[in-house]
Amino acid sequence: MGTAIYPGSFDPVTNGHLDIIERGSRLFGHLIVAILKNPKKDYLFSTEERMYMLRESTRHLHNVEIDSFSGLLVEYANVKKAQVIIKGLRAISDFEYEFQMAMINKKLSPGVETLFMMTNNKYSYLSSSVVKEIALFHGNVNSLVPPIVSEFIYEKIKNKYGEGLAQRGESPKYYVDDLDDDELMELIFQGTK
Ligand code: PNS
Repeated sequence: MGTAIYPGSFDPVTNGHLDIIERGSRLFGHLIVAILKNPKKDYLFSTEERMYMLRESTRHLHNVEIDSFSGLLVEYANVKKAQVIIKGLRAISDFEYEFQMAMINKKLSPGVETLFMMTNNKYSYLSSSVVKEIALFHGNVNSLVPPIVSEFIYEKIKNKYGEGLAQRGESPKYYVDDLDDDELMELIFQGTK
């Protein structure tokens, strides 16, 4: 049945990701969920936290492994002897970028196939960015993410962006109330997805 890789930032994992992981795990003997470590990106969660939340959310899937990687995805796929990269497509807007990535990856490593899976309709609007935005404004994310993410995300946002209270004697980086909407959006979307 072979090995497939489902790569992403997973900052944090959403129910849309989980849907792809569950369906992908039924198609392949071994599914590796691979978290990108990109030093240029300002993630909300550390690599370890993203891995932990993915492990907790996929405990019921016995052929799923959670790992992290840096560098080129196809090189990682070759090291792991994976023949397939799984990508979720939510909407037509995802297609152009994903098409380019699939072509580049094919050029770099012709033996690795990209397999696109349509996201379940009920998650077509969902992204990690949307989840972070809702949580930043204290909205309810319970139906959008696994329970472990709901448990941590509010505290994490508070620690990162501050609420006027310093954590462990440090000054908070930002006071949310001091920012206008554009600045808030910039903060949320800064290098994260
Ligand atoms: O969840 P994301 O942020 O959309 O995931 C993007 C990811 C990790 C799939 C993509 O950025 C990636 O493959 N990065 C590794 C570098 C690489 O191989 N890029 C393609 C050639 S330019």
